[in-house]
Amino acid sequence: MRLTVGFFETVEAEMAFMDTLVLYLLAMFAIAFVALMLGLAAPYGRYAAGASALFGFEVPGLFAWVVQEMPNLLAVVICSCFFANKRCLDSSPNQLLLLMFTVHYINRTLVFPFRIRGGKPSKLMPFLMATAFCTVNGYLQARTLTYIIVYPEAWLFHPQFVAGVVVFFTGFALNLHHDAILRDLRKPGETGYKIPRGGLFDYVSGANFLSEIIEWTGFALAAGSKPAVCFAITTALNIGPRAVQHHQWYLTKFDDYPKERKALIPYLF
Ligand SMILES: NC(=O)c1ccc[n+]([C@@H]2O[C@H](COP(=O)([O-])OP(=O)(O)OC[C@H]3O[C@@H](n4cnc5c(N)ncnc54)[C@H](OP(=O)(O)O)[C@@H]3O)[C@@H](O)[C@H]2O)c1
Repeated sequence: MRLTVGFFETVEAEMAFMDTLVLYLLAMFAIAFVALMLGLAAPYGRYAAGASALFGFEVPGLFAWVVQEMPNLLAVVICSCFFANKRCLDSSPNQLLLLMFTVHYINRTLVFPFRIRGGKPSKLMPFLMATAFCTVNGYLQARTLTYIIVYPEAWLFHPQFVAGVVVFFTGFALNLHHDAILRDLRKPGETGYKIPRGGLFDYVSGANFLSEIIEWTGFALAAGSKPAVCFAITTALNIGPRAVQHHQWYLTKFDDYPKERKALIPYLF
């Protein structure tokens, strides 16, 4: 039996609601981007210690990552199992896009947090904001792919889709690789910081963030939907400034930090 969402009488009404959510997200992340670029560091990881008490108490890093990212996976399961349009589930492009989103979040929720070495906590406020974002974004992406848009089979061979899938998996592989480089900087039990080297870290301080931006840009290209484009933009607005902050932090922390290295975009920025 296929259930229907009771809040909306028509698909058009739900799409209008999703458009509103997208606009709110873009507006909020544009404001956050300005605050972050003006120097407000998101108080988790290296910036948690010494952050204002207004951000709340500290939440253990492992707990924060698992709980805040979990809504993405729950959204996929709930939307696919209970509220899906069968035509979406039968469409190969829908299946592949849903797989891309799911694979990323299986890693981010169930693998990445358990492999962190000596990771710092998160303050309560960024933890709650990340949880709220993942809940809204999980709903937007999963619902779009399981109910709102039915991609035709021909989309599977469209150059835009193919390019998007290639870019996504390139970004995903790079993200895994650069997360691993950071992890391997510490021996078990260590909590300090070292200069990351190898891969894109030889060019930018935020290689893990650049990879993730590439990843969701590919997803947006392949999906071509407003929620997917919104996700790519909010990701860049969120972790682009974190790359800049990390870059400045390294320059003040390490006298021998490579001077030619940029923050986020090789040779440019
Ligand atoms: N899509 C999005 O909007 C979004 C948002 C946030 C994060 N992410 C992704 O989530 C992943 C983690 O993000 P993050 O902000 O936690 O990244 P991060 O600040 O670079 O930290 C990642 C991990 O590596 C450790 N680490 C970083 N630099 C190190 C160094 N120089 N020496 C030793 N250890 C170091 C950190 O330890 P400490 O905890 O001790 O600093 C942490 O455990 C990234 O792949 C990022 O792209 C995505």
